[in-house]
Amino acid sequence: MGVLRILVTGGAGYIGTHTLVEVLAAGHEAHVIDNLGNSRPAALARVRQLTNRGFGFTRADLRDQEAVAALVAGFRPEAVIHFAGLKAVGESVADPLGYFDNNVAGTLSLLRALRESACRRFVFSSSATVYGDPDYLPIDEDHPRRVANPYGRTKLQVEEILGDLARADPSWSIALLRYFNPVGAHPSGRIGEDPVGIPNNLMPFITQVATGRRAALNVFGTDYDTPDGTGVRDYIHVTDLARAHLAAVDWTVVDWTVVDGGDGAGRGCAAFNLGTGRGTSVLEMARAFEEVSGREIPLVRAPRRRGDVASCYADPGKALRELGWRAELGLAEMCASSWHWQSGNPEGYPEDEL
Ligand code: NAD
Ligand code: WQD
Repeated sequence: MGVLRILVTGGAGYIGTHTLVEVLAAGHEAHVIDNLGNSRPAALARVRQLTNRGFGFTRADLRDQEAVAALVAGFRPEAVIHFAGLKAVGESVADPLGYFDNNVAGTLSLLRALRESACRRFVFSSSATVYGDPDYLPIDEDHPRRVANPYGRTKLQVEEILGDLARADPSWSIALLRYFNPVGAHPSGRIGEDPVGIPNNLMPFITQVATGRRAALNVFGTDYDTPDGTGVRDYIHVTDLARAHLAAVDWTVVDWTVVDGGDGAGRGCAAFNLGTGRGTSVLEMARAFEEVSGREIPLVRAPRRRGDVASCYADPGKALRELGWRAELGLAEMCASSWHWQSGNPEGYPEDEL
């Protein structure tokens, strides 16, 4: 394994910052492009403090073709990790065009710039949402793909674009990483998930109940066909997820002796599930959090949330076989690190910290 110049799109976001920490710790050189539409400069400043390493930053939108082309020409990335995207399911239903424009057109702009460069290594943030309501569990990568909302469709479309690209030009190595439910934070408590407004996702909602910012957790559905009637998901610690990106970048390199000039024959396009393989219910998660934090999480029974499935968890075997990666951290670490981050930063990142 060697060292690469890695372009990280959306590197100021939740998963991006945690991955950046691992990328820099592994000795790689990094450059972030982010429009800061859903993130703050403080997040990047804290990555610098945590790693004691520098990296470049361009504040620009991926759809700004000129800015992206100039960045690619100047930085000459040898691999790209592409996080930049909008991710709120409900918002995507209300504003499908905004989602296709940002997520699909943004990716096309990036790919056009890369086509003019030597870089043919690409790691994409996809999602288990591409499996829809599962036919069987655990879900492997051959499970049929179907989506229930525009957000999911943007992921599916980008996966298909990348598949076509690899078929047209065999020098590409493209990893489609299908994340299950990322939670947790860096053990330092300095970086973490910082949602705007009322959190859509379970863990940030629980941590805000624990700080007193919200009164109780609404449990969306208590009559599912699951052991305790509440929804079951495959929660994965963001640090494990971050490390999976490093493993995926390594996988994209066919020959470390010619990293800069490209590999000639690439690996094509392949999908990998990133999860633990273990399902956890809403009630189990709330209890695990109470145990670790010592805070009570009051629960309120609420109706099922539209579009939710009963159970969803991964067969992560392919990532182990082909990337040599597996999740190491469990529920206790997920809850403890989320709580460490939220209790130290009850309002998230400060507006003015640089
Ligand atoms: P995030 O919102 O914290 O990070 C995304 C970053 O991309 C933000 O900093 C945002 O400002 C930036 N961005 C968005 N559109 C951009 C554009 N057009 N140009 C430049 N920058 C742009 O989200 P996250 O949770 O870190 O997710 C990262 C990626 O992983 C996303 O693509 C998301 O769809 C995917 N994903 C997330 C989850 C999850 O539960 N968090 C699950 C599966 C997949
Ligand atoms: C988990 C469980 C809820 C909040 C979403 C996206 C998916 C992916 C990850 C990006 C479910 C229950 C939640 C609350 C609750 N993102 N819940 N009370 O829905 O599995 O996945 O994020 O790709 O596309 O759909 O995650 O954290 O929202 O919910 O009871 O206040 O917690 O019903 O069973 P989900 P989640």
